[in-house]
Amino acid sequence: MRNFVILLFAALAISCSGAADKPANVEAEPAPATAVIYGDTIVLTQPNLAAGKTINEALAERASSREYSAEPLSLEELSGLVWAAAGVNRPNGHLTAPSALALYPVTVYAFTAEGVFRYNSKLHVLVREAEGDYRELSAAQDFAYTAPLNLVYVADLSKFDGKGIDRTKAEFLAGQDAAGYAENVNLYAAGNGLKAITRGSLKSTEVLNLLSLDPKQYTVVLAQTVGK
Ligand SMILES: Cc1cc2nc3c(=O)[nH]c(=O)nc-3n(C[C@H](O)[C@H](O)[C@H](O)COP(=O)(O)O)c2cc1C
Repeated sequence: MRNFVILLFAALAISCSGAADKPANVEAEPAPATAVIYGDTIVLTQPNLAAGKTINEALAERASSREYSAEPLSLEELSGLVWAAAGVNRPNGHLTAPSALALYPVTVYAFTAEGVFRYNSKLHVLVREAEGDYRELSAAQDFAYTAPLNLVYVADLSKFDGKGIDRTKAEFLAGQDAAGYAENVNLYAAGNGLKAITRGSLKSTEVLNLLSLDPKQYTVVLAQTVGK
């Protein structure tokens, strides 16, 4: 959380110093699309590879949980979780989880009390897609509605275009990718004192509507709850 605040001050300092350099009669330029704006883009912390239990300890402790407090996750925990799901872990841009044909059709959305955020793996940031609490759409079980984080895995089926793969097979492969993402998160959670559960239950149509994603191209493949 402290880093979050520091980033806010750093962003403010950068924007303030830029403004101070401009002559008074020059109109402010529109912010670039990639501008880091507190509240709209969450700049995540880099994974701490020395933290947490061993992979064998995490495997021994992995279990589904259906009871969560509303206690929010720290920025470090949120960062580690989405990095575990789909973070870039090699110079070739490939991710922590495998993907059939290396197509990476699955995007991770984080549903929190504050809003819905899309994980941009390449930039390792969360970008706000919706303001407000939509956790009820990301699940169909009470425990998830107040848990601090629900992840929804959405596949872009157009990634399979031209590969000779029909929609049924594409959905199957995307689901397998998402299962890998989710299991990485389960193990990260077990290894870092958090609870998690993979879920197939959620309100898929409403999620696609909220995110303005065309169901002909996009499909919700899996969901997950993480918390304490
Ligand atoms: C693909 C998948 C979908 C699941 N969907 C749900 C779900 O919607 N709700 C739920 O309570 N548990 C769900 N689970 C969790 C399973 O019920 C759980 O893994 C199983 O009971 C075994 O318990 P364990 O994970 O603690 O070993 C799902 C698990 C998987 C792998």
